[in-house]
Amino acid sequence: MTGPTSHQRQAWRDIAADAASQAGAFIREESASRETLVWEEKSATDFVSRVDLGAEEIIRHHFAALAPEIRVVGEELGGGNTTDGLVAIVDPLDGTTNFLHGFPNYGVSICIALDGEPQAGVVYDVARGGLYHATLGGGAFVDQKRLHVSTVTTPARALIGTGLPFKDVTRADEYLRMLRRLMPVVSGMRRAGSAALDLCDVANGRFDAFWELWLNPWDLAAGILLVREAGGRVTDLEGRDAGVVGGTIVASNGVLHDWFLDILNDRNQ
Ligand code: IPD
Ligand code: CA
Ligand code: CA
Repeated sequence: MTGPTSHQRQAWRDIAADAASQAGAFIREESASRETLVWEEKSATDFVSRVDLGAEEIIRHHFAALAPEIRVVGEELGGGNTTDGLVAIVDPLDGTTNFLHGFPNYGVSICIALDGEPQAGVVYDVARGGLYHATLGGGAFVDQKRLHVSTVTTPARALIGTGLPFKDVTRADEYLRMLRRLMPVVSGMRRAGSAALDLCDVANGRFDAFWELWLNPWDLAAGILLVREAGGRVTDLEGRDAGVVGGTIVASNGVLHDWFLDILNDRNQ
């Protein structure tokens, strides 16, 4: 069976881009009344507000109207697994903690995947503006600008992005040992608080590599495609290509990938 055409992928990207822009406009509007929002607890340190839910509803509406054949799987309203059939994998607000605190790094992430293979992805940077988008085989862009991963080859010059395992501290020691090994040999490390935008930062060459011990499919699905289409590599900790499922994610400009996997896994450098 032949796969989707590039024309079809672009059509999916356009639908996702419109949905993300509409949700982003809503989030931006709501940020004015941020201080009065009610924080609902998902767990002791993980919150959600009506803004996350409202943004996901906008996205679902858009898909129901323009592409009802696409099943929507969203962080807040569910929808089943991410690896069967044609699905939109949606994080309506990635970086909720940043949003709730007015820290300007949060976005909307949507990936269209077919049987587990990302076909089109968009991440809308709500606070700073900029629509990141990619289609399989069609390259990665921010607005009209083509994206390329960095050309840094020397670990000592690398800026590394990461996410802290704050939702599952059982892996904190493992994570801290990784940080400890990296700290003296790289140029800097950043925890910016939105995995979807962290992956965009690898795609646009700001970060030379990024890792996080556990992410959900909606945090990473669009970002995986963006990084790959910008020339980078995205795997799990063992070096297997990352899929649109939850797990550990290791992304890089490609050149640094084996070195990065080695140091994360504490293999002799
Ligand atoms: C979170 C962000 C954060 C990452 C967390 C995610 P949310 O998503 O991407 O950077 O460290 O693991 O859950 O909850 O803001 O959508
Ligand atoms: Ca998220
Ligand atoms: Ca979210």
